[in-house]
Amino acid sequence: MKVSSLSARQILDSRGQWTVEVALTLQNGVRATASVPQGKSTGATEARALPAAMAVRNIKSVIATRIIHKDFLDQAALDEFLVRLDGTKAKSRLGANAILAVSIAFLRATARTKKVPLWKHIRDVYGIWVDPTTTTLHPRLFMNVVNGGLHAGNNLHFQEYLVIPRVRTFAESVDVGTKIYHALGAALARAKGHGAANLGDEGGFAPNFKDDLEPFRMIHAAAKKLKLDKKIDLGIDAAATDIKGMTRARLNNLYKKLIKEYAPLYIEDPFSENDFKNFAAITAANAGAGAGVKSKLWIAGDDLTTTNTDRMALAHAKKSVNAIIIKPNQIGSVTEALNAVRLAREYGWAVVVSHRSGETNDDFIADFAYGVAADGFKLGAPARGERVAKYNRLLEIEEGK
Ligand code: PGA
Ligand code: ZN
Repeated sequence: MKVSSLSARQILDSRGQWTVEVALTLQNGVRATASVPQGKSTGATEARALPAAMAVRNIKSVIATRIIHKDFLDQAALDEFLVRLDGTKAKSRLGANAILAVSIAFLRATARTKKVPLWKHIRDVYGIWVDPTTTTLHPRLFMNVVNGGLHAGNNLHFQEYLVIPRVRTFAESVDVGTKIYHALGAALARAKGHGAANLGDEGGFAPNFKDDLEPFRMIHAAAKKLKLDKKIDLGIDAAATDIKGMTRARLNNLYKKLIKEYAPLYIEDPFSENDFKNFAAITAANAGAGAGVKSKLWIAGDDLTTTNTDRMALAHAKKSVNAIIIKPNQIGSVTEALNAVRLAREYGWAVVVSHRSGETNDDFIADFAYGVAADGFKLGAPARGERVAKYNRLLEIEEGK
């Protein structure tokens, strides 16, 4: 597979920050574009994204000149070439954003060449080895309906309050989740005034609350009123690396209360990013005997593991988690993100693919989540165009496209 042209430009993400878009054409004339998201509550061990202008310059002046007319056998060959060309551990020379944008555009152009949907091509590249007894083949949706932490200007310590529909299809999941989302918005406006239905970075509601558990009380009440409470699970991304002014003891008390009162399915980053020990303690105390997806509580690493197989090996050795967040832009290439999924499966962890808080309208991540048969897909609220793009892509995928 030869690349005949590669261009790059800056575009805006959903927070009005510059990010990278590339357009790549293969020698067969097939063209594809790709843009990359950006996080705000980023882990210290994530691959380095450079300022968009620098990343664009690197794509045009370094990457383009080195890859045009070169023959790449497959996705892994291109990604390995780019990683070597960068030469740093954190991709800080060319930028993880520069490399990932090129990697995704190449993936997409290859899928188009084969005339198959992107998720199908991802399955081929992944060489899917999906064990039907441990994976659902159909990620559950992790819908973020209340935003706090760094994603909102409110008083919530936790970053994301997740509704996780427990139904069979994407269409039904979206239906259940949006009904609760709308009912919650109306209840918030009634209880706290009109402005309470304003949205945070990922489209969830973002008013002040009485305490960090009040969102759960209100989500549960809204679901119960709709008779949907038995069709959902609840979860949080605490994003605890960025929680200020709460001791570990207070956090632990809060989790105990949360687990007792709401029996959540999912807690992400309960402690800060190097606290492997306390992750292990909460996993041991709550996760039950079952591994990964079968556990009654998934304790997931995000800032802890950063889609990085070295960090994952550490977390595995210390028994810190039974689930993981996979974000391709934390590691900076499609191949490495697939390697992280593979390793997570080897460890028996539940796999939750995730968008970032700063997104573009690129819907790649929906194909990726479905393609690798993730157990979960975290994609924000069913609001704001950059989130809706992913929801609508899933509905399309479900129709076989
Ligand atoms: P981020 O947040 O994209 O701002 O890092 C998402 C998350 O922590 O899961
Ligand atoms: Zn997170």
